[in-house]
Amino acid sequence: TCLRTDSEPKSVKERSLLDNASNLLTNLLSGGNLGSMPIAEGAVSDLFARPLFFALYDWFIQHGSVYKLAFGPKAFVVVSDPIVARHILRENAFGYDKGVLADILEPIMGKGLIPADLETWKVRRRAIVPGFHSAYLESMVEVFNDCTERTINKLETRLHRAQSTGEDLIEVEMEAEYSNLALDIIGISVFNYDFGSVTSESPVIQAVYGTLYEAEHRSTFYIPYWKFPPARWLVPRQVKFNADLKVINDCLDDLIRNARDTRQEDDAEAMQQRDYSKVNDKSLLRFLVDMRGEEPDDKQLRDDLMTMLIAGHETTAAVLTWATYMLAQNPDKIKKAQDEIDSVLGERKPTYEDLKKLQYVRLIVAESLRLYPQPPLLIRRSLKPDKLPGGHKGDVNGYAIPKGVDIFISVYNLHRSPYFWDEPDKFMPERFLKAKQSEVDGWAGFDPQRSQGALYPNETIADFAFLPFGGGPRKCVGDQFALMESTIGLTRLLQKFDVQLKGKPEDVELVTGATIHTKAGLWCKLKKRQSVKSVVTAEPAAVNS
Ligand code: HEM
Repeated sequence: TCLRTDSEPKSVKERSLLDNASNLLTNLLSGGNLGSMPIAEGAVSDLFARPLFFALYDWFIQHGSVYKLAFGPKAFVVVSDPIVARHILRENAFGYDKGVLADILEPIMGKGLIPADLETWKVRRRAIVPGFHSAYLESMVEVFNDCTERTINKLETRLHRAQSTGEDLIEVEMEAEYSNLALDIIGISVFNYDFGSVTSESPVIQAVYGTLYEAEHRSTFYIPYWKFPPARWLVPRQVKFNADLKVINDCLDDLIRNARDTRQEDDAEAMQQRDYSKVNDKSLLRFLVDMRGEEPDDKQLRDDLMTMLIAGHETTAAVLTWATYMLAQNPDKIKKAQDEIDSVLGERKPTYEDLKKLQYVRLIVAESLRLYPQPPLLIRRSLKPDKLPGGHKGDVNGYAIPKGVDIFISVYNLHRSPYFWDEPDKFMPERFLKAKQSEVDGWAGFDPQRSQGALYPNETIADFAFLPFGGGPRKCVGDQFALMESTIGLTRLLQKFDVQLKGKPEDVELVTGATIHTKAGLWCKLKKRQSVKSVVTAEPAAVNS
């Protein structure tokens, strides 16, 4: 059921066999249930040469905003249209489930929000969303700052050491640094556990990375062999995976037991009104355990925590990685961000109120998510027959979708669509400040004012042509958390360092699993910035971006 997207050289013979198989299947499927929908006739070998979402983009330009992709024994419908995406994600959200994705993630996340069945999802979503209340989010600024400080300290120590030997810069693999940072943050904020991964290694940290690695392997492997019970004991990577899972589960079970032993039952509203600066354990686990009325069993709580650990870790690390990659190629944008940081903060750390003034850094985060959405594809399967609305390019009447059709909503295509964005491949954080009239029927155009006072651009500003956190009822629960975390991470880095790429931008190869990441790390050169002595008090910048 799964697609392999990382590059792996294939022999000419293998490629041609695959291409023949692909063409045969394409022909077989062309008269299928999806009627007149255009079919991507690219060779399957396209899928091996580069990440899948690149090929999906080329086919989008060639075939239009809704097309069918035949691959192996399966056909997928690829959607790159905001009106159709809005229909699937919001208007008929419960006509679809997570399909392939749930199959892959269920062994890891159990009945956590991402793969959960509808009944479980409704109950747990109702319990978890209130946990991300504003007092919690504001109090997390301290956690984001403290964890980022460890990364900064580590880099500064390395730089001092280099300076003592006459060097004025250090070379750092930033993707790994961001991954450790995001792991530490998610551990403390979600279950009050300090992985300490920025500064050390431990069996639990290794188990987390092992599990993430396996989740990625499963999302890029053709045959779900891990579903056959003997694989658990016979296939070495499955043996390791189960051992890793046990290490994490034991750790989470301990934390859950601890939280239950110290339970102080309270109403959700009362907990949201607390003065969080005086709350000792601010974690989401504490909230979920203390909340009156919801009594999830230990296994459900563990699934919830595991889901947030996985959903909130690599995604945020990837945003920071690609923001750094883009900034390092745009020194003028680094300078603009640093000017803003200097005028708002000088040398101090950002508070929650400061985030409102760091408009340019916030837009850098949004623009990085536009260019490198995490994940680049949203996956759905129709639970009953549906009728899609007409797309903007290719078809106007819309297609009938039978039950059981697998759909990829290509967020990457939406975010880089030449029909909705000016110079779509260009890194221009400023683009989020300017409204744009719609030339497409049924699409409301682009209007920054529509974010209704939200700190960051969201899916409503571009009427689903911008979907950094999905949309509708299954929208990300951690969106504000992740945006604030990323803004603080970037702010502190740029406050302290100037950043350049070590090699050429085109040498940074992309691979995808659940997120877009680099093949061999993001190697950067970091130089210490001159210290910022004079703090100019800035007028608060306009916030409604
Ligand atoms: C769902 C992106 C951070 C927890 C989603 C979805 C997207 C997304 C696109 C929707 C998936 C779909 O519709 O199929 C991101 C990005 C992040 C991020 C880009 C970082 C920049 C986080 C964090 C957490 C989190 C920090 C938790 C602490 C979740 C959960 C869901 C979800 C639980 C499932 C929601 C549901 O099905 O009800 N995320 N996420 N995410 N995210 Fe995030």
